[in-house]
Amino acid sequence: MESLKLGSLEIWPPVVLAPMAGITNAPFRTLCREQGGGLFVCEMITTRALVERNAKTLKMIRFAPQERLRSIQLYGVDPVTVGRAVRMVAGEGLADHIDLNFGCPVPKVTRRGGGSALPYKRNLLRAILREAVRNAGTLPVTMKMRKGIDDDHLTYLDAGRIAVEEGISAVALHGRTAIQHYGGTADWEAIARLKEAVTEIPVLGNGDIWSAGDALRMMESTGCDGVVVGRGCLGRPWLFRDLAAACEGSGERARPALGEVAATMDRHATLLTEAFGSEQHAVADFRKHVGWYLKGFTVGADLRRRLATSNSLAELRAGLAELDAAQPWPEGVDAPRGKTHARDRVHLPAGWLDDPYDLAVPCADAELDTSGG
Ligand SMILES: Cc1cc2nc3c(=O)[nH]c(=O)nc-3n(C[C@H](O)[C@H](O)[C@H](O)COP(=O)(O)O)c2cc1C
Repeated sequence: MESLKLGSLEIWPPVVLAPMAGITNAPFRTLCREQGGGLFVCEMITTRALVERNAKTLKMIRFAPQERLRSIQLYGVDPVTVGRAVRMVAGEGLADHIDLNFGCPVPKVTRRGGGSALPYKRNLLRAILREAVRNAGTLPVTMKMRKGIDDDHLTYLDAGRIAVEEGISAVALHGRTAIQHYGGTADWEAIARLKEAVTEIPVLGNGDIWSAGDALRMMESTGCDGVVVGRGCLGRPWLFRDLAAACEGSGERARPALGEVAATMDRHATLLTEAFGSEQHAVADFRKHVGWYLKGFTVGADLRRRLATSNSLAELRAGLAELDAAQPWPEGVDAPRGKTHARDRVHLPAGWLDDPYDLAVPCADAELDTSGG
């Protein structure tokens, strides 16, 4: 196995924490980074909000002081705005790597031609990538995408070739279409097809890696140059320890007992409190993680509920102290966590599928209130 090369950056192991809105903030990245190496991408940042220097957005791109290889994911639909945002990141030294999001399937985004709807417009995609690379200076720019809109409108092979032609440093493919959302299983075959079509730059595989074994299997079966891991890390930051071990050829796997899990939960909530500067906000944000951390452990419904509705660190810690610290890791619970649902249709702008080559730029409000991929 080789390290992952993104322009002049070299990443070992070839493992990427997937950008996840509302999850991969600096505290969560710290927890994952402490476990093992790789590249840890921040939450998605909207290019328009960035160039307008929206206060909340500027807060979201804060990195921990020790964070090396600061990686930002940008979302945008307008080549000019994307170019300006990239120039700002590069010129002001805000990050070491930029990823572009073309995978977001949420209706309010695709309805306006953004996210996973965008690569269907080949020339618009090309214009965005060109502006991004032109403004990035020496920063590597990568792109993350889905297979397409649905099985009748696949775009990933064209998008991969366009990425190469426009100087993108690597492409990541989530092996689902927009209509699949998070349902069904990721199509690793498509990752193999993309690897065959894109030989000049690294191809990263994404989708349904729940364990280090899954990562090895994906690399072996698709030939991809690295893996992007999202939901598998929810409540499992130590998956990065496993991924590092697996890439080094070791069979050692983290199997934390409930006490160690509780300590990680405490640390996660504490780091969130430091980052947000508000204990109340941090503890509320942490609630969504509780079920993921406890998945598979035997914990009574009342205690689970209290942990997931804590209003302060003290309340959370009191609940954590009641957990049976000696309870061993529950084997065989690498089961799906987080989003798992499918959709029955993809919302698109009127006439979007009529012409894959026109250069219509989606309306500016395609970037409003956008989160998630
Ligand atoms: C809560 C959540 C938020 C997400 N936010 C983003 C995002 O901001 N940008 C993006 O490119 N993908 C986003 N994704 C998609 C993931 O990066 C990843 O592509 C997807 O979850 C499939 O990988 P997995 O099976 O390893 O989870 C998000 C996924 C989840 C579950």
